[in-house]
Amino acid sequence: MNYIGSKYSLLGAIRALLADRGIRPPGTFFDAFAGTTIVGQMAKTLGFSTISNDLQAYSQVLARAFLVNNDPPRFAGLDLSGGDSSAFLARTSPFGVAKGAVDIRSGDFAPLVRVLAYLDGLPGTAGAFTEAYVEGGSAGRLYFSRANGMRCQAIRDQISGWQREGAITDLEAAILVASLLESLDQVANTASVYAAYLKHLKGTAQARMTLRVPALIFGDAVHEAYIGDTNALADQLAGREIAVMYVDPPYNQRQYNSYYHILETVASWDLDAFVPRGKTGLRPARRQDSQYCRRPQAADALIDLVERVPADQVIVSYNDEGLVDRDQLRALLGRRSTGDDDFREFSYRRFRADADGPTRSYSGSEVFEYLYAIRTRRQAVV
Ligand SMILES: C[S@@+](CC[C@H](N)C(=O)[O-])C[C@H]1O[C@@H](n2cnc3c(N)ncnc32)[C@H](O)[C@@H]1O
Repeated sequence: MNYIGSKYSLLGAIRALLADRGIRPPGTFFDAFAGTTIVGQMAKTLGFSTISNDLQAYSQVLARAFLVNNDPPRFAGLDLSGGDSSAFLARTSPFGVAKGAVDIRSGDFAPLVRVLAYLDGLPGTAGAFTEAYVEGGSAGRLYFSRANGMRCQAIRDQISGWQREGAITDLEAAILVASLLESLDQVANTASVYAAYLKHLKGTAQARMTLRVPALIFGDAVHEAYIGDTNALADQLAGREIAVMYVDPPYNQRQYNSYYHILETVASWDLDAFVPRGKTGLRPARRQDSQYCRRPQAADALIDLVERVPADQVIVSYNDEGLVDRDQLRALLGRRSTGDDDFREFSYRRFRADADGPTRSYSGSEVFEYLYAIRTRRQAVV
């Protein structure tokens, strides 16, 4: 998924930091701002139990599919006889951290591939989603081509229908919705996020959406997926043994709920409960606004979290464009640290569009990404 702040490219660095600090499985890895869940997926492949949390429903769907689910889905409530998945297999591909390690042609994946092939072949239908966000819809918003948008409507309706009838389990539904979220995102007619759509359908938005196969990770350890404010979850985690909490909050004022509102709607499939508002068709509630996106609150929220979650070690990801600056971050975390700290910095060139001037020019700028690890002081129990 094309997600702001995804740590996909930092996975190697996070893995190295875990190893260097002796944070090894078994033990619990708490991904407190899970987003795409890619970090939690890596932790699961390493052998940790994971706890995943985010404000957004799409993140919980991904966590249920990739983390909570431990077994090859059987789809025992559906009739999978007949049909041929070979044409679908030829054009689809896996996604997720284990995509290079799984064989989607193996028996473990056969029922899932069969169901995805069926969904992928469904004819499109019109409905509330196409009216609100799709080419030719009454709202006039051009987030998806007519063909892709109608197929999304049909596929998501079918998943909900199966779930309502009890034909698939909640975890099986999450796996299918995870596939739809990833696949739909690839054909979105946006520059990158859903804060705006393009005036004309771009090339990738005209391509036919193909459902991709989640590279599911099988195992025995227990995994949990929550939705809500991580600071509120802290109370629920009191008394738990957590080896490491990974903290990757938003760095700036951009609220994820408005940037990814369409993925949230596809995850929740609740267009019967609200009328999309404004030019971009936002969801109504601001309840998912994050305190980490507000300068006066971000630092306090961070220290509150680190103080209350019972984790032996904490790893914080941040960057040099964030609301909390580097020295402030180190001072804040220092209050909770035994002194056994590790601060690592990574730079990469980010290309930025400079809009001024008659000929639009593009210049590079350097961004620093930090990983800051501390061992926490535990309260003495008397
Ligand atoms: C930088 S992104 C995390 C990216 C993630 N590590 C990944 O690799 O995909 C920050 C995430 O924090 C979530 N978020 C923001 N405020 C939150 C809060 N108070 N509690 C839980 N999640 C929050 C956002 O929805 C977003 O998914």
